[in-house]
Amino acid sequence: MTTPETAPESFPETAPSPSRVLLIGSGGRENALAWALARCHGVERVWVAPGNGGTAELQGCEALALAETDGDGLLAAALERRIELVVVGPEGPLAAGLADTLRAGGLAVFGPGADGARLEASKQWAKALMLEAGVPTALHWAAASRGQALAVLEQHPQPLVVKADGLAAGKGVTVAETLAETRAAIEEVFAGRFGAAGAALVLEERLSGPEVSVFALTDGRGMVLLPPAQDHKRIGEGDTGPNTGGMGAYAPAPLLDAAGLEQVRRTVLEPTLAALRARGIDYRGVIYAGLMLTAAGPKVIEFNCRFGDPECETVMPLLGPELAAVLLACARGDLGQAPELTIAPGCSACVIAAAAGYPGEVRQGDAITGTLGASEQLQLFHAGSRRGTDGVCRTAGGRVLAVVAQAEDFDAAFAAAYEGLSQVHFEGITFRRDIGHQVRRP
Ligand code: AMP
Ligand code: GLY
Repeated sequence: MTTPETAPESFPETAPSPSRVLLIGSGGRENALAWALARCHGVERVWVAPGNGGTAELQGCEALALAETDGDGLLAAALERRIELVVVGPEGPLAAGLADTLRAGGLAVFGPGADGARLEASKQWAKALMLEAGVPTALHWAAASRGQALAVLEQHPQPLVVKADGLAAGKGVTVAETLAETRAAIEEVFAGRFGAAGAALVLEERLSGPEVSVFALTDGRGMVLLPPAQDHKRIGEGDTGPNTGGMGAYAPAPLLDAAGLEQVRRTVLEPTLAALRARGIDYRGVIYAGLMLTAAGPKVIEFNCRFGDPECETVMPLLGPELAAVLLACARGDLGQAPELTIAPGCSACVIAAAAGYPGEVRQGDAITGTLGASEQLQLFHAGSRRGTDGVCRTAGGRVLAVVAQAEDFDAAFAAAYEGLSQVHFEGITFRRDIGHQVRRP
């Protein structure tokens, strides 16, 4: 070893930024992630498998026609393209072990293995972990049979929340208003409405309070918190009608100020990570805590192992160009070396345009027309859309588009988002006009 004559300039040991990224998924969340990653320092290309009509058009992005469940195909394609970071969007492939397959092949993956994904994929497992970690959450009773569940109800004769244990595409939860509804929901789960996801269930006490979504990017030890977001789950204005995947969102949600977010870090996220580590789980990805702000403080309603949708569309435009380096550092287990993630000071507003009939049967195949004017602070993300061989982009799902705008305050941000929405069209377009009613001037 030779000693240099003069001391070398000391460079900070910061994690590198990936230049070649593979993103897996096809929703609005992935359109927003692809857009954000393609703008990051050092990123040259983002492949999206399989992507949608929006990701296909993004600058710096390229579609990869592989299913999100095709682990071997995705691994081979990633190795061939010398991918430096894989980001897995949806919970299904994570729960099925896609991140494990890709890691075993030597790739850096942002997204937990099947073990960590149980945080979302099994409500019973997640509740047991929370109990062990002392994380504030609703009282619960696990039941493996109809008889057990009905016995719980007999001992606690009150309307309960009934949750199918497994992944049920957001439809496995009934917040019962009456005893009869609770009983009916139990019968429905054990009658097989949710298939294997309903082989067991969790009954919970009903909590009340506003809900907020918190996202922690983690390498299993450290974490970076994103601005909290508020979703709008109901289809109808005034928060009425059936639950959906989410009809719009805004961030940062003032419901949770800096002190509130710190409280969530201390009482929810840090103990959860410690409990995961105690089980030998090296969780590298995002932990999404769905919280209810009750009179007794924030309590966890659910954990997810992925970004929320439409929260992701809402939050991504607020994040700085260090995002790709931060996700890579999480994937490599060295978040301490990552550059600081800058977060823009403004307000972000997102409105979802859904197809007629959503959240039930929807019409599909309608041409999507119109474009937004060029503005750095206005984005059009696609969710359920597909570009045909004729080049026309058509509706292909329940939630079709997300229009997102940033401004100094929520009034201006929502005005810009709704103005943007008026520029795009498809037959049967459905959206709520009151997204952000909590933070807008009437
Ligand atoms: P989840 O799929 O677990 O997020 O539940 C869907 C929705 O049901 C949540 O966003 C809440 O609005 C509601 N919910 C779930 N658990 C409870 C609870 N324990 N008390 C009151 N509402 C709940
Ligand atoms: N927006 C709620 C979810 O992604 O689960």
